[in-house]
Amino acid sequence: MEWTTEKRYLPYSKWGADTLLHLQAQAATSTYQMRYHLRPISGLVNDPNGFSYFNGEYHVFYQSYPFGAVHGLKSWVHFKSKDLVHWVNLGLAVEPDCKLDSHGAYSGSAKQIGDKLFLMYTGNHRDESWTRHPYQIGAWMDKHGTVSDKHLLFKKPNNVTEHFRDPQIMEENGTYYAILGAQDAAQKHGHIDVWKSSDLKNWEEIDFLNFTNHEMGYMIECPNLVKVDGKSVLIFCPQGLDKSVANYQNIYPNMYVIGDSVDLDKAQMTNPSNLKNLDEGFDIYATQAFNAPDGTAYAISWVGLPDISYPTDNENWANCLSHVKKLSIKDGKLIQQPVESIKTLRHNEEDLNSQLIKNSTSGQYELELTIKENQTGNLYLAANDDLSENLRLEFDTKNGKLILDRSKAGDVAVKYGQTRSVELDANKEVKLDIFVDRSLIEIFVNDGEHVVSGRFFANANNAIKFDQKINYDGKFWNMESIM
Ligand code: FRU
Repeated sequence: MEWTTEKRYLPYSKWGADTLLHLQAQAATSTYQMRYHLRPISGLVNDPNGFSYFNGEYHVFYQSYPFGAVHGLKSWVHFKSKDLVHWVNLGLAVEPDCKLDSHGAYSGSAKQIGDKLFLMYTGNHRDESWTRHPYQIGAWMDKHGTVSDKHLLFKKPNNVTEHFRDPQIMEENGTYYAILGAQDAAQKHGHIDVWKSSDLKNWEEIDFLNFTNHEMGYMIECPNLVKVDGKSVLIFCPQGLDKSVANYQNIYPNMYVIGDSVDLDKAQMTNPSNLKNLDEGFDIYATQAFNAPDGTAYAISWVGLPDISYPTDNENWANCLSHVKKLSIKDGKLIQQPVESIKTLRHNEEDLNSQLIKNSTSGQYELELTIKENQTGNLYLAANDDLSENLRLEFDTKNGKLILDRSKAGDVAVKYGQTRSVELDANKEVKLDIFVDRSLIEIFVNDGEHVVSGRFFANANNAIKFDQKINYDGKFWNMESIM
């Protein structure tokens, strides 16, 4: 089927229920489909949106195009959870159904205000000449999940181009602030634009956030600011970033900086660190973070990248969300760990302290390994008998290196390299907490000092084996499905 522009932007009501049911079945029955991560009910999923705590539960939405594996007319699909692991699907929440968001209810955030959840997002509107008008929209969600009262908050100011989106709403001392991804009109560089309002109705632009002396490519998407252990952590996606500023391999990186604090009224971060990759793997983008009422910072990411095709495109669905990651800071470094309640999915615990050769028939498991000092070798996951297909994890605890290689696990973004490597301390054991969910791997290294995530497509092979005798301790669990 050819995805013409007309087809991508066809109103949802013009698609038949039978088409949607067929697409849902295709997504549900795919051998690549995730079982304990948020995944598309049908079609394509991208950014997490509105990650928040409201009415005693956690909420997250995702960008969805339900009718195929393409970036078409976007909406928000809503999930809620008591433990950040088991999610209830509450269905379509923000539909592209008015002039303001006629060409997509794009990314945004949410915050409880009074007894409602305030949603702030970008409405993508295109006029007759296909010129884009990004409208920043407010809407209210009640405790039953009904979204109403969509209204314009502000239009783009003249100092930015049509690339002006993804507001994160915040509140400090009774004043509301929003930070947005932007491209300036004069130089066409990426920026984070800071706005404020005392009443959520009248908004004024403050300035571009000063958090670096470097040029931030041609656009920044999905900026997020959270407090982590007393510091301010800014998470964002610069597009077209020069690799001399911060090295990365993916088409677009998801980066962060840590500052002592941020003065939003002055649009100024104090003492910002250099840019660092949030994830050292293949497919993490558009991470959204928020501070829960007890102050804890949680993050969740899109596992998928813009402008990249994935093997499941042929099955009319694509991408998923990551685990929720709990953020902390240790020795000035950002630490990301899976939430404690992920352990409730574990069952059939096995000790793996003899030679590891195992078949996980489900392809959904957690593997906790401590590889001792002075070990070099390869751990093959999702391997077939002759190793012509596998996901390879190479380790060298003598020189301190870890490499994830997906060159024998399907062709994804081959042009951007099929390995990702992580530098570790030399002459030290390494602790790996590995989560595999069919075609998704998330590796938490040394209790979250590094995270290496990625998709892989190895035809449902499930053998797990080392290539030689290795000194290690290990545990294995099958993981329950969540949906
Ligand atoms: C990032 C992004 C956002 C935009 C959304 C549209 O992946 O391009 O900037 O709001 O996706 O789906």
